[in-house]
Amino acid sequence: MTPQPVRVSPPAAGKRRSRQQRFWSLRYEEDPAFFGRGASPFARWAAPWLRRHRVQRVLELGAGYGRDLRYLLENGYDARGVDNVRRGVSQGRASLSRFSPTPHAERRLTCGSAEACLAAQRPGSLDAVYSNLFLNMDYTEREHRRLLRAVHRSLRPGGLHLYSVRSVNDPWYGRGVRRGPATFDLAPHGTTMHFFSERYVRSLAVGRFEVLRVEERSEGGRSFPTKVLYVVERKGPSRPPRGSGGRPKEDIPARTGARP
Ligand SMILES: C[S@@+](CC[C@H](N)C(=O)[O-])C[C@H]1O[C@@H](n2cnc3c(N)ncnc32)[C@H](O)[C@@H]1O
Repeated sequence: MTPQPVRVSPPAAGKRRSRQQRFWSLRYEEDPAFFGRGASPFARWAAPWLRRHRVQRVLELGAGYGRDLRYLLENGYDARGVDNVRRGVSQGRASLSRFSPTPHAERRLTCGSAEACLAAQRPGSLDAVYSNLFLNMDYTEREHRRLLRAVHRSLRPGGLHLYSVRSVNDPWYGRGVRRGPATFDLAPHGTTMHFFSERYVRSLAVGRFEVLRVEERSEGGRSFPTKVLYVVERKGPSRPPRGSGGRPKEDIPARTGARP
């Protein structure tokens, strides 16, 4: 009989997901406004991009308790959000039902995995995919590439992918236990986080997206200072990466790219 290949750790992804879900569930239980009540700095920064690129249909990944989703709805976008933590989603739905000018706005925030939600989108049906501090969760590079492939598939030609992620220049980079390239388990001060460099952003985009803007910003004020990369990229035609050389060395110029 031919020996079967050994399967390499698929359960690990499931374990990582549930650990992360427990982490966020606890945060949202302790403080229903863990990230504050208003829209995130990234949502406000992204607004001119959405306006100028005539975006209507937006999907938000890792929407938490829906603060940015609410901002998008209030600004007239046909927006939907998904998060895989039930507690955050139910808090967000309650808030959306009370405050948003959109009828049945609470139905626009659903509980589920970002991966499944992207897979359920009609190809080319979205004008934009948006996420704030979601892609820097406990994802491997392979998982990032799979997610970006799914984002690309769901976008119309020329559609925008806008995301913010913790930067390799963040003061938390390198703390805790190293779990992989640029990935650190910050327990007990946080969850596992994958930090991004500009070169990593660009390497993930190769063959799918044209990077329009990468900008590093400070967030969190004095109480919790962080460094975050703001990224805008536009869907291009898919093509196989030329001589993909694996993960690039991490470096980061301060600010590159186009204006909105
Ligand atoms: C750092 S929080 C940001 C929440 C929100 N974007 C905000 O700014 O208020 C990251 C969020 O991603 C969610 N998340 C992590 N992995 C997910 C997945 N695979 N599918 C859906 N949501 C996920 C977490 O539950 C958490 O709410």
